[in-house]
Formats: sequence, structure tokens, C-alpha cells
Amino acid sequence: MKKILALVLAVMLALLTFAGCGGQKTEADKPESTGKTLIMATNASFPPYEFKDGDAIVGIDAEIAGEIANKLGMELEIQDVKFDSIITGVQTGKFDIGMAGMTVTEERLKNVSFSDTYAKGVQVIIVKEDSEIAGPGDLDGAMIGVQQSTTGHIYASEQYGEDHITAFDTGNDAVQALVADKVAAVIIDNEPAKSYVASNPGLKILDTAYAEEDYAICVSKDNPELLDQINGALAELTADGTISRIIEKYIPAE
Ligand code: ARG
Repeated sequence: MKKILALVLAVMLALLTFAGCGGQKTEADKPESTGKTLIMATNASFPPYEFKDGDAIVGIDAEIAGEIANKLGMELEIQDVKFDSIITGVQTGKFDIGMAGMTVTEERLKNVSFSDTYAKGVQVIIVKEDSEIAGPGDLDGAMIGVQQSTTGHIYASEQYGEDHITAFDTGNDAVQALVADKVAAVIIDNEPAKSYVASNPGLKILDTAYAEEDYAICVSKDNPELLDQINGALAELTADGTISRIIEKYIPAE
């Protein structure tokens, strides 16, 4: 009996040790440091991809970037900037990469390169719970809140006209304007939408998905080596399950 108990305990201990190691990197996994810093620009008001936890910027993008930097033997530095200054900053070399739940678009591809995609997004519409707006067709003539220069902003202005759009610096500012009845709806990516709705009572997301998108990391067109390194790291992190583990940590399967 004692032996069985000892065996059970030993197995449990072994399992616990393994569980504790999940995702943890041993020193052997860590490539030699190059002493270089990878500067990532983001706009940290976009949970669960990037948001502030005290002074720290955390979220899916921050963690994936940390893993990529680790693979490249670099130190990660994250800078929180306006969304519409990420691409220009990457173009001018102020930042090495832009990672901000950023959708690959033809227009952006004229200015920067994009890595392979690591996540998908869907544009959705947020309204007040008691709103009469039930779908995209009801948005005609309404005032729509968006985050400046995002795809939500681009679609909304193409479809409803710039006169019916109020653009804000952050997605959260757009949602606060909805709470305060300054706009009648917000068009934004689905995961941040879920998170904003969860933290602001009285809001809901309409069922109709608006547009599907691919998220990727942007890199200067002048830096094809870095792009290759990032794609290499992303492929390894996808293959060993790191990317799905990070995404599931922030977006638990329903
Ligand atoms: N996916 C949208 C776009 O690329 C919105 C991204 C906003 N990201 C952010 N971190 N605020 O335009």
C-alpha cells in the first residue's frame, strides 16, 4: 500500500514538474545574445493583443514578440505610440517592427513588408444594448466611432462617408464616446470589442461580422533579413505550439 502511495506521489510530482515547465524556456533553448535590441512599436489600448498592466505592456502581441526576440538573441523593447505613427516609424527606422493586431492591407503593403500572419481578426459593430441599430444597414446617417487610421476607420469612411465618422486616438476612447452617447456605434476588431464590452456595462456586439482580416508584423522594406528572421521564428513558434498557447492564454476557447 505504502509503495503504491509513494508511486502515486512520485507520478504526481513528475506531472507537476512538467506542468510547471510549460512554456518556460531553459537556458539551453536560449540562443546566444547578440546584445541587440528589437524595438517594437504598438498602440497599447487594444486588449487582448496589447494593453497596459500597470506600467507594463502585456498581451498576445507583447508575448509573441518576446518569444521572437528571444529566438533572435535580442532584447525586446516595446514603445506605446499612436496607431497611425507605427507604419511611418517603421519606414524611417525609428522602430524595427510594428506589432499591433495590425491587419495586412494592399495599401499598407505599399509602404512596409508584412510577416506571415499569426492571428485573424473580424471587424464588428458595438452599440448600446437598447440601440435600434441591428446591422450594418442601420448605420446610414448614424455617427460612427472608430480608431484613427485603423481598417475599421477605412471601411466606415468608404461606406458611410467621413462626415459620419468620428476618429479617436484609441479604441477605448471610441468606446467611451459610445458610452457617453457621443457616437451611436463603434466599428472595431472583435477581440478588443469583446474586452471593451466586458468592461463597460450596457454595450453589445452585433451578430453581423463586417470584414475578416489577417494580422501580421510589419517591417521596413529595407530590412528583408529581419523579415526572414521573424518569419523563421514565427514558423518555429507555430510548430512547437507556443503561438497557440499564448493566444489561448488571452482568448480562452469558449
Ligand atoms: N486591425 C486593425 C488595423 O490594423 C486595428 C488595429 C489596432 N491596433 C491597436 N493596437 N490599436 O487597422
